[in-house]
Amino acid sequence: MSSSLAVDLSGCWLDEYGITPLQFAELANRLESIRDETVLTDVKLLESGAIPVEKMPLDGRFYELPELLLSQYAEDRRTSELAQILSVARQLQESSEAVVILGIGGSYMGAKAILDGCCEPYYNELSKEQRAGRPRIYFEGNSLDNDSLQALLKRLAGCRWSVVVISKSGGTLETAVAFRLFLESLQQQFPDEVSSRIVPVTGPKGKLDSLAQTLNCKNVFRVPEGLGGRFSVLSSVGLLPAACMGVDVVQLLKGAASMNDTFRNASAEQNPVLQYVGAAHLLEKRKGADIRVLSVWAKALESAGLWYDQLLAESLGKAEIGATPVTAVNTRDLHSRAQQHQEGRRNKVIVNVTTRSTRTDRIRVPERGSDHDALNQLAGKPITELLSAAYQGTNQALKEAGRPVIDIQLESTDAFSLGQYFQMMMLATVVEGRLLGINPYGQPGVEAYKKNMKSLLGIADSQKD
Ligand code: PA5
Repeated sequence: MSSSLAVDLSGCWLDEYGITPLQFAELANRLESIRDETVLTDVKLLESGAIPVEKMPLDGRFYELPELLLSQYAEDRRTSELAQILSVARQLQESSEAVVILGIGGSYMGAKAILDGCCEPYYNELSKEQRAGRPRIYFEGNSLDNDSLQALLKRLAGCRWSVVVISKSGGTLETAVAFRLFLESLQQQFPDEVSSRIVPVTGPKGKLDSLAQTLNCKNVFRVPEGLGGRFSVLSSVGLLPAACMGVDVVQLLKGAASMNDTFRNASAEQNPVLQYVGAAHLLEKRKGADIRVLSVWAKALESAGLWYDQLLAESLGKAEIGATPVTAVNTRDLHSRAQQHQEGRRNKVIVNVTTRSTRTDRIRVPERGSDHDALNQLAGKPITELLSAAYQGTNQALKEAGRPVIDIQLESTDAFSLGQYFQMMMLATVVEGRLLGINPYGQPGVEAYKKNMKSLLGIADSQKD
């Protein structure tokens, strides 16, 4: 595998329960023509605004975003979108010991994945100096949980804090209610600074947009038309929180742009997006593998797995089809889920996500004078070697049991690698949707609970949110 993100399908080529390279080759033309539709036709349709009914909604703006933001930034380091994101993040870093990110679904899961992937595991527990002056980061507005809201509001009392409130529609109840609570608290604590301590990220014309105007918010970021919530991680939705954390947002975008480049140019057999989709699709259609287990081999990737859970579930879980995503974290879940993956129903494909390098120096098993635990035989071995043995041992066991495996390898959990991963999975979801004949955009099923909840609460359902 090369130094960038790579996909290995050798674990799918299994006699009885897997697929064959020939089957993949037969699908290659179709995959490539869907790829061309995604990068050419859809982009043109979005530009023209003349979107045919059968393609609506078409929320494919995520595709061009990395290159667009990078080129605008290269041209204008002061007023381009990325320059403004970096400037507002700096202001928040200077003014705040803590930043609360309010948002739900696509409006927070990407930012959480970036925090977990790129920052220290105990980031919020570090001192300000250890965080290089960056604020602690909290996520709220992603539930209706009395105790968690209370706990955060209490924790913020006495410190300097700000809010980034993210809602494309501007009306999602969980986020809106949380915003009301945090706004009230902020107004009490900093009556003269509210306009600079609240940064909304929202679409135009929603309730959050008008509230931002009423509050005279100094900085407001726009979620562009044609960008779906769960496809928005590489817009201000994910980039502003990332910049507040001190994550290199340019590297995130460069990683995504490099994935676009490969996606556009590589043949199906060499194309990580098409390799992944082709194999997963064939396994689902021909072998009934409709449970997609994203098995991440680093704790730092758990939220990236959950981000993909949402992307796959909301995009393709329609018309009674679409694979069911599950995120597993190994080796933790070898002790909880692996039994089922190894010997349960033959309805799963395991998608391993591994990294080549670690963020920190390698820690080794220490040698001890008394060897009560009999671990001196491992003394001197790095933990990474133990992990690698667990990974290889698991893959071997799965192979022997005829269980299909797709391997995705990232360089690390850094910004560039995550950018590649996000873009790969968003592109893959669109291609897979087109293969299945499902529009990957929109989430009509989610509207039902919202409607019922509003009716039970006796509130007006005045806008689609
Ligand atoms: O993918 C989506 O569109 C959804 O998951 C939304 O992100 C989520 O419902 C939050 O919506 P909003 O940003 O409008 O508050």
